[in-house]
Amino acid sequence: MNILTLETTCDETAAAVVTERLEVRASVVASQDALHRRFGGVVPEIASRAHLERILPVIDETLRKAGVGLDQIDAVAVANTPGLAGSLLVGLSAAKALCLARQIPLVAVNHLQAHIYACRLAADREVFPCVGLIVSGGHSSLYRCPGPLDFELLGATIDDAAGEAFDKVAAMLGLPYPGGPSIERAAAGGNPRAYALPRAFLRDPRLDFSFSGLKTAVRYAIAGPGRPDPAQVRLTGQQIADLAASFQEAVADCLVAKAFAALEQTGMRTLCVGGGVAANGRIRQRLGEEAQRLGVDLHIAPPRLCTDNAVMGAIAVERLKAGCVEELDLDVFPGVVRSASQPVGAKKFS
Ligand code: KG4
Ligand code: ZN
Repeated sequence: MNILTLETTCDETAAAVVTERLEVRASVVASQDALHRRFGGVVPEIASRAHLERILPVIDETLRKAGVGLDQIDAVAVANTPGLAGSLLVGLSAAKALCLARQIPLVAVNHLQAHIYACRLAADREVFPCVGLIVSGGHSSLYRCPGPLDFELLGATIDDAAGEAFDKVAAMLGLPYPGGPSIERAAAGGNPRAYALPRAFLRDPRLDFSFSGLKTAVRYAIAGPGRPDPAQVRLTGQQIADLAASFQEAVADCLVAKAFAALEQTGMRTLCVGGGVAANGRIRQRLGEEAQRLGVDLHIAPPRLCTDNAVMGAIAVERLKAGCVEELDLDVFPGVVRSASQPVGAKKFS
């Protein structure tokens, strides 16, 4: 069985062909980084228009790479929640058109569950039940995941997502978008203890994050209140490296503290980590050290499966196994689902 999976939740237009045995036949990701770079972040209208231009070429290339024709696709899976409304609509409309034309089942994918499922794919063995930590440009959330399709939100950022903070701090330091990889590169030559930056909620039992104060602290470290705009300040290479390293370490401290607190509070022993920020080498190292110290079974998606891709849409296999397919009136749901035993819009397949 071949499943075509589509991903257009944010600014990557991606498609993959996966099988019911979770084999990946092809994967294509068309990044829009170059389009959003000059704005320092994703512009939703530009993202949805770019998806529209790219979705068919991306699907064509994926099928070509997989060596299968459309007539050999048995189901189409698409991420319909959460994400940017206009972007989600492009993927969903393409998926519906293919399903209608070919009379094949439509499968809904929850993008956040898919990020956690990337760990299941990489591990090539069962990883559930687990605590799922998703750290991306739009989300910083902890979930209790009894199974691949069951989840309950334990905590989330109350303001900026971790990736958003990486992107905004990078802009302040004059580093290119996307900010995560730029900060990671700059931090390699920096001292993580050079600047004393805040770590929000560390002594709070709630499993929430806050990165906006950290972002503001970096701004004030560059140029204090009443002083010039950070963009006008010329930082030395060493100052940039030290600020990048200090910021990265503060984010790592918060993620490590809350992820392991979530394990303790839920009594779970497995941690799965996904999302673009999980590609960060220092954060991976810190999570790894803590997992080893506490004997936790840690799965971090490999970097290519951390940032948005359609391979993780293979979670559709679990949905199909559960007998769930969608009607063609399925809608997008841009907001975050707090808890579910099935993704949004699920209807039992009879
Ligand atoms: O998961 P993703 O591709 O898209 C969303 O669903 O948001 O995550 C993108 C985010 C961006 O904010 C980017 O700066 C961040 O992930 N990111 C990183 C790294 N690579 C990407 N953050 C820290 N370190 C990295 N190496
Ligand atoms: Zn994502």
